[in-house]
Amino acid sequence: MSEYVPIEVQDTSGPVLDVRDLRVWYASPKAPVQAVDGVTFALNPGEVLGLVGESGCGKSTLGRGLIGLLPRGAAVDGELYFAGREMLSLPAREREALRGADMGLIFQEPMTRLDPLMRVSEHFREALKAHEPDLSKAEVRTRAIDSLRALGIPPTRYRNYPHEFSGGMRQRIMIALALALRPKFIIADEPTTALDVLVEAQILRILADIRQRYSPAILLITHNLGIVAEACDRVAVMYAGRIVEQGSVRQVFAEPRHPYTQELMRSVISLKTRELHSIAGAPPDLSDPPPGCRFHPRCPHAMRVCIETSPPTIDDTECWLLDRNLSTADSTPLVRSEVSVADEA
Ligand SMILES: Nc1ncnc2c1ncn2[C@@H]1O[C@H](COP(=O)(O)OP(=O)(O)OP(=O)(O)O)[C@@H](O)[C@H]1O
Ligand code: SF4
Ligand SMILES: [Mg+2]
Repeated sequence: MSEYVPIEVQDTSGPVLDVRDLRVWYASPKAPVQAVDGVTFALNPGEVLGLVGESGCGKSTLGRGLIGLLPRGAAVDGELYFAGREMLSLPAREREALRGADMGLIFQEPMTRLDPLMRVSEHFREALKAHEPDLSKAEVRTRAIDSLRALGIPPTRYRNYPHEFSGGMRQRIMIALALALRPKFIIADEPTTALDVLVEAQILRILADIRQRYSPAILLITHNLGIVAEACDRVAVMYAGRIVEQGSVRQVFAEPRHPYTQELMRSVISLKTRELHSIAGAPPDLSDPPPGCRFHPRCPHAMRVCIETSPPTIDDTECWLLDRNLSTADSTPLVRSEVSVADEA
């Protein structure tokens, strides 16, 4: 691992993360998969942003693109600023040095990230020494045990191996490892999906506690809107590689503007649920997305204009319904047979 070089912070008053028109695509035999296609958002210090959307809409790709952890064959374009510093033009070695120390990543499946042959203590030693080589053995131990204790893992377990812990405990060890370095920005990609509801509640309490102690900015990727309501300040809704709506959790949950967000909200099961709602159809193939609005084949409010022209972003929502100046012809409701003719054209 490369030695940690603290980044030259150019602006501490602005957002931790400023993303403009970010695009990520994967090479594929047919055509490039446009997994993230023009995403723009900012994340302030101490803020928790929930990123939601159906499977395959590009959430993990966006997360990995932000932290510079994309697989070979993936390409990135756009602008990405971390603490005021442009990231995409940084040499790979410098970006690697930032990971862990300034940007942490919490994965869904801890066992794929923890080495079964290494004790917990060795994981901490490796992570901390890679970024702070001058730390003494005693300092490493103190930092690691503090971090584990904050996550409810007793110091007596410090020298255990990963397989000696339950799934929930392993997830907490992963989080403790990410936090021992006190990063300014953390991506948590489905951190509770594999866990039962009690452990999930525990992890959410821990995330709330971490916010109070260190105020990192957190991007929380999840399928679960209940988690967003509980743990996030703002929410970004992703569909087919684009953020179609973003805003405060309070505003988006009370008054979702985008038809996709409205449909997602209707799919949530609550005590008042009388019948289950699902969104008809499936997200598009991102190597050949539909023209115009990518949601038009599934949208209950689609209009003529939606099949031809990409919608504008108005009030942080990407939808033609918010454009008050549409002509009568453009705003004519779409007849579904026209969609299939347009798709075939
Ligand atoms: N390594 C890869 N090579 C090619 N295509 C990929 C690769 N990884 C992901 N994709 C494609 O990119 C798109 C976005 O995938 P991604 O994993 O980012 O979605 P996601 O929103 O995180 O889904 P999930 O909720 O299931 O985790 C999908 O069409 C997926 O098939
Ligand atoms: S732009 Fe048109 S198709 Fe897309 S979400 Fe809005 S109304 Fe529906
Ligand atoms: Mg994912």
